[in-house]
Amino acid sequence: MTNLSVCIGSACHLKGAYNVISTFQHLIEEHGLHEKIAFQATFCMKECHKPGVGISLNGEKRVIAAEDARRFFQESVLTAVQADEAK
Ligand code: FES
Repeated sequence: MTNLSVCIGSACHLKGAYNVISTFQHLIEEHGLHEKIAFQATFCMKECHKPGVGISLNGEKRVIAAEDARRFFQESVLTAVQADEAK
C-alpha cells in the first residue's frame, strides 16, 4: 500500500491544497488505485515556510505547487505504487 497525504493546514489551504486533493482523488479514480493508495488529509506538516502545498509520500515530505499536482502524481505517486507492487 502506498501512503499519500496532503496537508490541509491553513497555509497549505491558501496555497491550493484543496485543488491538490481534488486532482489526486480524480487521478486515483481514473487509474483505479483505491486499493493501492491510502490517501488522506493531514494537519500542518511544518513545511509552511516553503512555497507550495505539503505532501507526504510513503512518509517522505515534499512540497509541490498546486498546479504541479497532476505531474507529481504521474511521476512520483505512480512510480511508488509500481515499486510497491514489485515487492
Ligand atoms: S499548513 Fe501545510 S505545512 Fe503547515
